[in-house]
Amino acid sequence: LSVNASEASGWKIPETLFGLFFEEINHAGAGGLWAELVSNRGFEAGGPNVPSNIDPWSVIGEESSLIVSTDRSSCFSRNKVALRMDVLCDMEGVKTCPARGVGIYNPGFWGMNIERGKTYKVVFYITSQDSVNISVSFASSDGSQILATANIIASASVVSNWTKQEVLLKATGTNPNSRLQLTTTRKGVIWFDQVSAMPLDTYMGHGFRKELVEMLASLKPRFLRFPGGCFVEGEWLRNAFRWRETIGPWEERPGHFGDVWMYWTDDGLGYFEFLQLSEDLGALPIWVFNNGISHNDQVNPATVLPFVQEALDGIEFARGDPGSKWGSLRAAMGHPEPFDLKHVAIGNEDCWKSNYKGNYLKFYNAINKTYPDIKIITNCDGSSGPLDHPADLYDFHVYTSANNMFSMAHQFDHTPRTGSKPKAFVSEYAVTGSDAGSGSLLAALGEAGFLIGLERNSDIIDMASYAPLFVNSNDRRWSPDAIVFNSWQQYGTPSYWMQQFFAESSGATILSSTLQASSPNSLIASAITWKNTNDNNNYIRVKIVNFGGNTVNLKISVNGLDPNSIRLFGSTKTVLTSKYVMDENSFREPKKVVPIQSLFKNIGENMDVVLAPHSFTSIDLLK
Ligand code: AHR
Repeated sequence: LSVNASEASGWKIPETLFGLFFEEINHAGAGGLWAELVSNRGFEAGGPNVPSNIDPWSVIGEESSLIVSTDRSSCFSRNKVALRMDVLCDMEGVKTCPARGVGIYNPGFWGMNIERGKTYKVVFYITSQDSVNISVSFASSDGSQILATANIIASASVVSNWTKQEVLLKATGTNPNSRLQLTTTRKGVIWFDQVSAMPLDTYMGHGFRKELVEMLASLKPRFLRFPGGCFVEGEWLRNAFRWRETIGPWEERPGHFGDVWMYWTDDGLGYFEFLQLSEDLGALPIWVFNNGISHNDQVNPATVLPFVQEALDGIEFARGDPGSKWGSLRAAMGHPEPFDLKHVAIGNEDCWKSNYKGNYLKFYNAINKTYPDIKIITNCDGSSGPLDHPADLYDFHVYTSANNMFSMAHQFDHTPRTGSKPKAFVSEYAVTGSDAGSGSLLAALGEAGFLIGLERNSDIIDMASYAPLFVNSNDRRWSPDAIVFNSWQQYGTPSYWMQQFFAESSGATILSSTLQASSPNSLIASAITWKNTNDNNNYIRVKIVNFGGNTVNLKISVNGLDPNSIRLFGSTKTVLTSKYVMDENSFREPKKVVPIQSLFKNIGENMDVVLAPHSFTSIDLLK
C-alpha cells in the first residue's frame, strides 16, 4: 500500500461525512434513549377512547378492594384520558385494606432500572373529593422488596381540583427489574394522570439515558438524522409522527401509536428533544418530515399544502426568532437561541410513490423560498444519473449481504462528477440477513469496506449513517442494530465498533493511496490525515479491511514523509477481528468483538503489517 503524504494529493472530506440516524424503532427512544421509566404515563395508549388501553399498568389488590377504570376527566385537553381508582377498603372497618395497600403499578419498559444511591423524580397529577394518602414507591417486580418510598398526604380541599405532585425518591437498593407503585389504604375515589419517573442523572440534564448517549458521543457524529425511517411515514397518515403533537410540556403531549413498528410512544422524546440531542452531541440536526405520504395512503399535490405549512412551521420552531409564532414556543421550552437546523429531508423512501414528485416540489419551492440556506434532501436516487427535480442531496439506502456491501465500496466510483449537483446522503446502510445475524463481525467488515469506498468518493458523498441505531433487546423489530440495550445494560455490535474507526474522518483530508495485492477483491484501504484538537498533533491514519479468510502481509509506505518524523510513542495499531467471522457481542460477552489497540513499532520506509484473516486494521502514525 503506497500512500502519498502530500495533502495536495487528496481533498478535504466533508465535515459532515459520518453521523447517526436515529429512528423510533425497537423501542429505541421510548424505553431506551429517553430516560422516562414509566410506559404509557398518561393511560392514553390506544388513543383518546375510553375504556383505554392502560397497558402495561396493572392493579395491586383484589377486585373487592379496588376498581380501576378510565374516563375522560383529565385536566389536559389534548389527552383527556385519566385513570380512576375506586378504593373500597380502608385502614379499618368492614373491609380492611391489605397492609401494603391497593393501587396500581407500572413495570416500565420491561422493568425499571433502579440503582442504590440514585435519585429519581416522580411526578403525577391527582384529583379526589376526599383527602388522600398515597404511597409512591419503587419495588421489585413482585412488590416484595421496596427500594424507595415516600408518602403524599393531601386534604380534600387541596386535591379537589387536579394538582401536580412531585417527589424525589432516593433508592436504597438496586434492582434492574423494578416497578413504580402508587398505593393507598384509604377509602375513596382518586383520579390519576400523567405519571412520570425519571432519574435525575441524565445526559446534560436533558432527559437522555446517559450511557447510551455516551456511546453515541464517542463516535463523534457530525449529524443526527431523525426521527425515522418508516416511523416518519406511518402505515397510515393518521399514525405518522406529527411534530406539533410532540412539543410543549410533556404532560400535554397526546402521544401516538407508531403503526409501522407497532408500539405506543408518549412522545416524551419529541421534536424539541431531537434538536436538543443533536446540539448536545455537537451534531447537525437532519429533520425528516412526513410529506403527505404513508405506506398505505397519500395526499396529492393539490391538497398537500397543510403538510407544507406544517414543515415550514417546524423549521420556524427550530430556528425562528423567539418573537416568532413557533420560535416563541421553542424559547418557552428553554431554548431561546435557534437550533442549527440546516438540513431537511422530504419524506422517507417515497420516490417511487405516485404523488412524491408533485408533493416534493411543493415542499421544495416553499422551503427554498423562505429558507434558501436550508439543504433539501430528496428520496430519489441520483447516483447513476441526473435527477429530474431540484435537490441539494439525495437519499441512498442499502441493506444487503456482506459480499455485496463490500463490493459496493465501488458503487460511487462511476457516478458522474461533472454537473452532478446533488451529493449523496447514504442515510441508511447495513449488512442484513444471514450474514449479519444479530450483528456479526462479517457484517461489520462488509460495512467497513463500503465506508472506505465512501471516504474515497467523498467528493460526491456528503453524509453517511448506519441503520438502525438502537434495539431494546425486549422488542427486536429489526436486526441487526448498532447498539443493543435493556433496562440496565448496553453493548455495541461489531458494526458499532467498526464506526469508531471513522470517527476522525469527517473534515479530515483524504490522501491518495494505491493498493497492489494478489487478492484485490478482498482488500480495500484508505488513508487520511488530520489534526487532533485534543493533543494538537497531526496524524495519518491508514485503514485496511481484509475481507478474506487468509492472513495478508502488507507493506505500507508513506511517500513524502520522513520516517524519522513519525513518533513511536503515540503511533498505534488498532484491530477489529475475532476467532470466527460470525462472532457477535452479547450481554454475556459484550466485548468479544471490539477493537484492540497496541503500539505500532514497525515504523520505517516500508512498514510491515500483518493483517489477520477477516479483520479491520487501522494504523495511526503520529507526525
Ligand atoms: O432502518 C429500518 C428501516 O429501513 C427504516 O425505517 C426504513 O427507512 C428502511 O426501510
